[in-house]
Amino acid sequence: MSTAADSIVKDMSLAPGGHLKIDWVKAHMPVLNRIRERFEAEKPFAGLKVAISLHLEAKTAYLAKVIQAGGAEVTITGSNPLSTQDDVCAALVEDGICVFAKYNPSPEEYKSHLIKTLETRPDLIIDDGGDLVTILHSERRDLLAQVRGGAEETTTGILRLKALEKEGKLEFPMMAVNDAYCKYLFDNRYGTGQSVWDGINRTTNLVVAGKTVVVTGYGWCGKGVAMRAKGLGAKVIVTEIDAIKAVEAYMDGFEVMPMSEAAKHGDYFVTVTGNRDVIRKEHFEVMKDGAILSNAGHFDVEVNKVELEALSTAKRVVRKDIEEYTLAGGRKLYLLAEGRLVNLAAGDGHPAEIMDMTFALQAVGLEYINKNYQSIGKQVLNMPYELDEMVARYKLEALGISIDKLTAEQKDYLDSWVES
Ligand SMILES: NC(=O)c1ccc[n+]([C@@H]2O[C@H](COP(=O)([O-])OP(=O)(O)OC[C@H]3O[C@@H](n4cnc5c(N)ncnc54)[C@H](O)[C@@H]3O)[C@@H](O)[C@H]2O)c1
Repeated sequence: MSTAADSIVKDMSLAPGGHLKIDWVKAHMPVLNRIRERFEAEKPFAGLKVAISLHLEAKTAYLAKVIQAGGAEVTITGSNPLSTQDDVCAALVEDGICVFAKYNPSPEEYKSHLIKTLETRPDLIIDDGGDLVTILHSERRDLLAQVRGGAEETTTGILRLKALEKEGKLEFPMMAVNDAYCKYLFDNRYGTGQSVWDGINRTTNLVVAGKTVVVTGYGWCGKGVAMRAKGLGAKVIVTEIDAIKAVEAYMDGFEVMPMSEAAKHGDYFVTVTGNRDVIRKEHFEVMKDGAILSNAGHFDVEVNKVELEALSTAKRVVRKDIEEYTLAGGRKLYLLAEGRLVNLAAGDGHPAEIMDMTFALQAVGLEYINKNYQSIGKQVLNMPYELDEMVARYKLEALGISIDKLTAEQKDYLDSWVES
């Protein structure tokens, strides 16, 4: 059994700063606060161990505390080497949560933290990008037996889970939190939209107005990133591989073209596809001097760093989270946060009010899996509509907004197939 005393964190003296950060987000997460109150009374996770891998900053820390308030023994690790905040980790240890995480660990250390988290033999897991699930289904199958199920945060993790399910290899039920309305409509679109620009702007301290921004991928995240780039005064180009999304981007007022063309025009590039190598050698070769490259997709594979490095004659860090690559001929390209999610690796991630809904879904989704795992079977499960709707209702109540109700006549009218 691991306890908070077994934790591996950078520096416990950072804890006071971490507590302040957690207090700040807590004050802006009314939906999660309401769920916490119920969990404190009902203890849905009493006697259970929960392992969490999420971007380890203040909002996630508060989710871990809510799960703990529900009676669980919680162990947490990061889901990206650059998004862990050391002060938040120290604060969680003081609050009795076992933490295996540090900012910028070596790849080996990062992996060892994931494994240590699983070696606590959890009953339930919360994953972000599928790292815990992947380890459990490959090299550490010995730790599978006790896992009842879990919840997955993001698009990329759900793709990995669905691939496992399709091959008939998924060993426990997982809730697809990302696919809930109250997740992707707000977190992916408005959360990513705002926080990507926050990350880019605080890192570069350069103007966006008048520049050309290339957004690669017009999914839920890409829509937000493009919308906010437009709001900042940029000319926005979208690249896509999906004809329907491409038409949508066009109708939303953006220029649409292939990356081979867009690469020549962009001052800023933001990849957010969940795919690999969407910006690669042939694109670097035609980019403008000074172009700024960033990624908001889950893994750091969207901008091909190996090919960028191979084309470069020199590389240096010119500012925190900015690497300058000098190409043959003297052109310079700038890569933010090593191509990792720019909003988390070079910022604080999504606003607290957004993560309030996402993490409320995580909490009630995990509770649902725990109650029903035996009947659900080994599948990727969509969030039950009642839970999704409940989170939206709590959010409206917290905002002091009320909405209309159907009259009996309206309900009959909608339920009837006879014209009246
Ligand atoms: N940065 C964050 O905080 C954050 C938040 C949520 C999700 N994500 C991650 O962002 C990524 C995208 O998530 P989403 O919810 O927008 O997914 P999505 O499936 O809604 O959209 C992805 C889009 O990328 C397009 N695409 C795929 N390959 C492409 C290519 N080669 N060129 C151009 N377009 C291509 C797809 O057609 C699709 O429209 C995922 O990796 C997800 O895990 C990041």
